[in-house]
Amino acid sequence: MSTTIAFLGATGGCANACLAYSLRSGYDAIALARTPEKLTTQLLSQPGLTQDILDTHLRIVQGDARDIETVMKTLIVSEDEHSTTLVSLIVSGIGGTGELVMTKASPCDQIPMRVPTIPHISIPNPHITEESTTALLGALRRIAKERFASFSDFAAVAPRVTIISGAGIKKGVKDVPMLFKPLYAALDIPHKDKMQMERLLAGEQEKKESLLCGGVVIVRPSILGGDHKIAEPGTDSGYRKLRVGTEKKPEVGYTVGRALIGEWIYREVVKGGGDKWVGEGVILTE
Ligand SMILES: NC(=O)c1ccc[n+]([C@@H]2O[C@H](COP(=O)([O-])OP(=O)(O)OC[C@H]3O[C@@H](n4cnc5c(N)ncnc54)[C@H](OP(=O)(O)O)[C@@H]3O)[C@@H](O)[C@H]2O)c1
Repeated sequence: MSTTIAFLGATGGCANACLAYSLRSGYDAIALARTPEKLTTQLLSQPGLTQDILDTHLRIVQGDARDIETVMKTLIVSEDEHSTTLVSLIVSGIGGTGELVMTKASPCDQIPMRVPTIPHISIPNPHITEESTTALLGALRRIAKERFASFSDFAAVAPRVTIISGAGIKKGVKDVPMLFKPLYAALDIPHKDKMQMERLLAGEQEKKESLLCGGVVIVRPSILGGDHKIAEPGTDSGYRKLRVGTEKKPEVGYTVGRALIGEWIYREVVKGGGDKWVGEGVILTE
């Protein structure tokens, strides 16, 4: 199997599950991680994965997903003076862990106290998905320019990109239950960031002659639950419970397990190639 997949944000539950299914099935992967030990500990807790599998099929690039050089290292499988081999797929689950915040700093600099505000979810870096997507596109642009004789040589092998966004992002798409509307309103900060990530990739897809990605698949899960743990080999993961919608035919649901999101990306994009989902905003819920 010659496919190599790049993973960003694989210490998050969704991308970790996808990486685990991929490695267990014999794919090669390169994963960018800020803390490699956190990634290997999570992967070794996955059913069916061993140190031997990680040593044979996984390369970890330590660093930050906002750093273009680090991302470039994650996308290049091998190179010599004559040619560069790239990953064929990129799966990104980059995000920030949110915290419910009920206060904000006093608008008056002289008063060092926090005052009540509308409850909302705050994340340490409210621009993380925008910044990491900018770095990803920057890395692809530099690879195209510096490693390939012509843009068409690059375009022939440009990796397909799958990103994890969220339900409730797109105006006019009915993918959020009425009961959860107040909760989604509190997610304004991460949602603005995800919208910006989607816009950057949509802008990329609108270009005709210099496409940096071999197609983009946007995954929009409802509220995430559970962790990274995938099913034991040969057991039922509950995959049949997963409902799959699109912007034209949305599915409305409350929550979805992280491991099921990873399994969908593995089955549909890694194994299935993802042609059917390119250009879609895929709504996943249980
Ligand atoms: N929570 C929800 O209900 C919900 C609903 C829909 C969509 N989503 C989105 O779905 C995606 C996947 O969620 P998840 O729960 O599986 O993962 P997650 O826990 O949000 O993990 C985020 C990942 O991004 C990485 N990351 C953050 N900043 C980074 C940086 N500067 N450089 C490199 N890596 C960085 C984290 O690495 P570290 O381990 O180093 O921190 C981690 O691997 C996220 O974008 C999330 O916002 C969430």
